[in-house]
Amino acid sequence: MKITSIILAAGQGTRMKSELPKVLHPVCGKPMVWHALQAAQSATSEKPVMVIGHGAEQVRDSVGDSARFVVQEERLGTGHAVQEAESTLKGEAAFVLVSSADMPLLTEDTLSKLVSTQKANTGPMTMLTIIADDQRGFGRIMRGEDGGVRAILEEADCTEEQKAIKEVNVGAYCFSADWLWDALSRIPLSAKGEYYLTDTVALAVDAGMRVEAITLDDAVEAIGVNSRIHLSEAEAGMRSRVNRAHMLKGITMIDPASTYIGMDVEIGQDSVIHPNTFLRGETKIGAGCEIGPNSIITDCTIGDRCEILSSVLEKAILEDDVDMGPFARLRKGAYLSKGVHMGNFGEVKDSRLGEGVKMGHFSYVGNATIGAETNIGAGTITCNYDGKNKYHTEIGEKVFIGSDTMLVAPLNIGDRASTGAGAVVTKDVKEDTLAVGMPARSIRKLNQR
Ligand code: UD1
Ligand code: CA
Repeated sequence: MKITSIILAAGQGTRMKSELPKVLHPVCGKPMVWHALQAAQSATSEKPVMVIGHGAEQVRDSVGDSARFVVQEERLGTGHAVQEAESTLKGEAAFVLVSSADMPLLTEDTLSKLVSTQKANTGPMTMLTIIADDQRGFGRIMRGEDGGVRAILEEADCTEEQKAIKEVNVGAYCFSADWLWDALSRIPLSAKGEYYLTDTVALAVDAGMRVEAITLDDAVEAIGVNSRIHLSEAEAGMRSRVNRAHMLKGITMIDPASTYIGMDVEIGQDSVIHPNTFLRGETKIGAGCEIGPNSIITDCTIGDRCEILSSVLEKAILEDDVDMGPFARLRKGAYLSKGVHMGNFGEVKDSRLGEGVKMGHFSYVGNATIGAETNIGAGTITCNYDGKNKYHTEIGEKVFIGSDTMLVAPLNIGDRASTGAGAVVTKDVKEDTLAVGMPARSIRKLNQR
């Protein structure tokens, strides 16, 4: 008995006031629709069918092959949208789960509960409700004297008395497929000129069948996004959910409300995340790290026991025991080996710093390889770009680069060499050699250190 799912995503989302289709607005770094897909896919183990319409091409491009698509050319309501998926799904499954792309906080657990309840049910459908003080324009649940659900009334069709009803329709359902396909063709046209999926409830009840309803405890799950205000509520709800999961795994967060962690981020045990820290994209952080405050880390891999204070890192790799900041910046291709120290106002791009390299203050290192235990003096610059091309700088081990040295690439500095303060190095410096001046000359051999 297969279970398939339909995700409704054709609506325009006018109230978002956006060029971007509503369902592509991100929540914790992933498009809203990604969250809905994850939940539906996990609850059914089948690729969901997504009904698209407004911004169809953009949505299709973003989702890729994580869904099958049906295009609803005319937005004639949620019932019509589900009907559009009929020809794709008919005969394929015994049960159909229906949810909306604009409800990114609905969990796999809740959708699974809808499915298992419907499987045990003799009636045609199971739906999801919530008791809410703020009904947010959701459809109101009408219950009969026996307590069973009788109908869903859209807010626009409610009397004042009905509007006061606190139980509302979350907008997720599991249907017995055969009954659903038949019922869809019998939905009446609403006063608004739409076919409401919610009218299937009354159709079932009128035919003497019982509609099951599960009532959600967690109001956060029911946050639907119709405006940017709702979007910020969804973001806060998801942020809190993600952060709680990390804390339960042994990560300390000084202030979860100002800690922003993407859906794919991994963090090792006993790491401490300080306020105003953003961990984004495919970032992995090891155990026992201190991250932040005030740091932005995107697509980085960071080893154990690293300390990162007020710094910005992107597409970089750090081995264990690296400390950096405040105000350091790593760009694409920065690789900091074990025990590297990088202090304030440094930038590293497309470069590899060997074990124990120290680069304390005000330096730019680009397209360079620096050997272990080398010291980069304050203000050192690799002059890697001549306006057309990038050139490589190779610095050996245990080198001492004096303060304010300009290293004009391409360049090779041998092991244990040294440069004087303010040197402008335009020619290679041999190992164990001191070079000074502008342009720098090698003036003497050094005692081997
Ligand atoms: C719907 C429910 C309401 C429920 C609320 C919960 C109906 C008639 N009403 O109202 O009872 O409380 O959700 O959020 O179902 N869509 C399409 N094609 C259409 C129309 C809508 O794909 O022709 C999609 C939208 O993109 C959205 C979802 O269906 O993802 C819900 O539509 P929306 O217009 O937001 O319905 P609500 O008025 O919120
Ligand atoms: Ca909605």
